[in-house]
Amino acid sequence: MTSLKHITKPALTDNTVLIGNAKTDFGKFGLTADELAFVKKQIAAEERIIAVNQYKRRVIVYIGETKKAAYLTLEAYRKAGNRVCGMLNGAKIESVNIVDITGNKENTLAFAEGMALGNYQFLVHRSDAKKAANTLQTINISAKNLRDTEVARLQIIVDATIKARTLVNEPVNYLNAEQLAEEFQKMGKETGFKVEVFNKAKITSLKMGGLLAVNRGSIDPPTFTIMEWKPNRAKNKKPYVLVGKGVVYDTGGLSLKPTPNSMDEMKCDMAGAAAVGCTIYALAKANVPVHVIGLVPATDNRPGMNAYVPGDILTMHNGMTVEMLNADAEGRLILADALSYAKKYEPELAIDLATLTGAAMAAIGKYGIVSMGTADKRKVDALKRSGENVYERLVEFPFWDEYAELLKTEIADMKNIGGPIAGAITAGKFLEKFTSYPWVHFDIAGPAFINGPYDYRPKGGTGVGVRLLFDFLSNVSR
Ligand code: BES
Ligand code: MN
Ligand code: ZN
Repeated sequence: MTSLKHITKPALTDNTVLIGNAKTDFGKFGLTADELAFVKKQIAAEERIIAVNQYKRRVIVYIGETKKAAYLTLEAYRKAGNRVCGMLNGAKIESVNIVDITGNKENTLAFAEGMALGNYQFLVHRSDAKKAANTLQTINISAKNLRDTEVARLQIIVDATIKARTLVNEPVNYLNAEQLAEEFQKMGKETGFKVEVFNKAKITSLKMGGLLAVNRGSIDPPTFTIMEWKPNRAKNKKPYVLVGKGVVYDTGGLSLKPTPNSMDEMKCDMAGAAAVGCTIYALAKANVPVHVIGLVPATDNRPGMNAYVPGDILTMHNGMTVEMLNADAEGRLILADALSYAKKYEPELAIDLATLTGAAMAAIGKYGIVSMGTADKRKVDALKRSGENVYERLVEFPFWDEYAELLKTEIADMKNIGGPIAGAITAGKFLEKFTSYPWVHFDIAGPAFINGPYDYRPKGGTGVGVRLLFDFLSNVSR
């Protein structure tokens, strides 16, 4: 893990990133006249990242880019931070000072954020982990008016994001539903939020027919985890409820995914659950005054001997019946029970996060989150703003009533698939039937897991959702 520290007197002998603009005087930072001339020449040639290799230390000059909007500038700084991270690791450097000369601490923090997030590696299962590990361990930040608390907050956000990445990257043979619940329990102990885990007997007594049906093809029992962060000084009367899809592995069940390839990444199907748990972890660690509940229904989806079969009619937690016609549309079944359960909290707003449909991924890819729901415009706008702040942008899909017609069946209240069109929306429409409060659905199938590095997100789990929800919930608690 990369540690972030606030410093006020950066030593001129340390490895240093100088953040300036084209007009900055870089004269006072231990560069020789020749080196300064070199930097000037590079700036004139419109280079933005300029490395000066001194015998005892490295100096990297970053000429910050001002984009059309503040949030775009922040993202440019994150990307630059990630690139410099690669350069520092390439030079086997362990510690670096980021020194801001522009007077914009927000941009500088974004640079550090991109650097720390880009420094993440998943090496748990490699015997050469020591050798393969990045050298960079410490990022010291110096900027005008920067406060210790701001750096501590960034550390919490980075740690929570990479925790979510690691949960997603762990395969199901290390992280089944019970083990995922245990991880949440550990996180609760560490930071002081409440965690309760329902076992299969309890889930049965609650008649969570969707979760139980999906679990039937599995040898491992399902879990239903309830997390609660309720500080005394919470600003909200009614809680925010976060619901995360916790399919620890999705084979498609008897509607088996057509291997090769389509199943390879399906350990990522609990990315919504990871985002929910790790957001609450961050809120508790940062002591954010907001009352939040997290709900995670979890199971693997497998074609075992007793697996649910297309044609089965399920009775859900809220009493509605579902004709199950595709065992691979399992996420909506377990989420439906959780959304129905959420009613008892009378949520101010419920947000579910789920790697729900290939259709969402096909529509917008890894570049954003597909969003829809019933919450009012003010809340949706606040979420969209947070999406821009952290660059996990929301794309709002239509949510017209007509789409619900595609879920009609003659022999039950609805079926679990909608047909060949608008797959992300019909999945959302299915979920809507189990909500009775303001609600937003985030389909994160595109951005949750990537098959190659994308800026400061290394290949694999991205931790998408954590930074977004933390930003949103910190803002509503102000
Ligand atoms: N977990 C998948 C969706 C998914 C696909 C996530 C690709 C990440 C990457 C989900 O359970 C699923 O299988 N959805 C089906 C639904 C269909 C059968 C109606 C899909 O999208 O094909
Ligand atoms: Mn599926
Ligand atoms: Zn799935």
